[in-house]
Parts: sequence; structure tokens; C-alpha cells
Amino acid sequence: MTDRTITKENPYKICFVCLGNICRSPTAEGIFQHLVNERGYQPYFYIDSAGTSAYHIGEPANSKSRDVARKHGIELRSRARKFTVSDLDEFDLILAMDHENMHNIRQLDSRNQYSGKIKLMRDFDPNPGDGAVPDPYHGGMDGFQHVFDIVKRSCENLLDELEENIQKTDP
Ligand code: 4NP
Repeated sequence: MTDRTITKENPYKICFVCLGNICRSPTAEGIFQHLVNERGYQPYFYIDSAGTSAYHIGEPANSKSRDVARKHGIELRSRARKFTVSDLDEFDLILAMDHENMHNIRQLDSRNQYSGKIKLMRDFDPNPGDGAVPDPYHGGMDGFQHVFDIVKRSCENLLDELEENIQKTDP
């Protein structure tokens, strides 16, 4: 997955990306952070999310996304921001929620320097379907719950892989 060692001095930085940064990527950010906290790995990760569009900049996560997450004991605290060119350099791993998001991220990578770190969230889903986390924005609660389930199992798998690279030191 990654060939580098993850330490407190050099934490692994992940940015989850969708279109609006109010439904899917805030859900992924919240779930991944929750799993990191549960496993006691806070110092080893820096987690963020962003959107490829500017539609919802500054907004909190969608209320249905927050309701579903809260039902599972997770608070979504993000504020929407737009993904920028500098994020390509800043993060170790950039996870797009669907193929269109990935295409839009790749378009910012004009010299194709960062392609190795741009991946799909569902590359880590043991049951990846068509590879996309479906956009729940215009639908009902079922769609938001479906997003939560997909993202949760993908994040669990991702953290299982990454934790092999953590080099622990005494607190
Ligand atoms: P997200 O969902 O990309 O998962 O945050 C959407 C949010 C807003 C819109 C589309 C999808 N929109 O068209 O405003």
C-alpha cells in the first residue's frame, strides 16, 4: 500500500474527496478519524476532506450524513472546502469517492507527478461494485446509510493495511 514508515514525526496524511464535501467525503473523514482514535493512532495520521466543486464552501456536513453518522456514534465536524493544487503535494494519499471526482483531481495534476497517490475509496472495499461511492445528495436516508456502510468497510480495510507501516515509539 505505502512503502514508507509511518511515525509520529512523519504522520500519514489522507484527504478524502467528493464533489460537494458535504456528504461522502465528510463521512469518510469522520469514520476514518473514529477508527484511528479507537485504535489509539491519533499521532500517526492527519485526516482531512475536500470537494472538487466550490458549491458548498464553508458549510457543515449534510444533516442526513450527520444523522446517520451520529446513529453510529460518530460526529461529523468538517466544513466544506475546495480541493486545491497544493493538496496534491501536501497529502500522501488522495481518495476520490467516484470516477468523476478522480478525473477532476487528475486534471489538476498537469505534469502527472502525483498519479500514484490518487486512488478510489472503493479500491479498499472488499466488495467494490463499480468502484464508485454513489452520490446520495438528491436521495433519501437509505442512500446515506448505504454510503456510510460502503465507506466504513473501505476505511476499516484501508486502516488495516496502513497500520502495518506504523512504527510505534513509547509515549
Ligand atoms: P457529496 O454530495 O459530493 O457527497 O458532498 C453532493 C453534494 C452536493 C451536490 C452534489 C453532490 N450538489 O450538486 O450541490
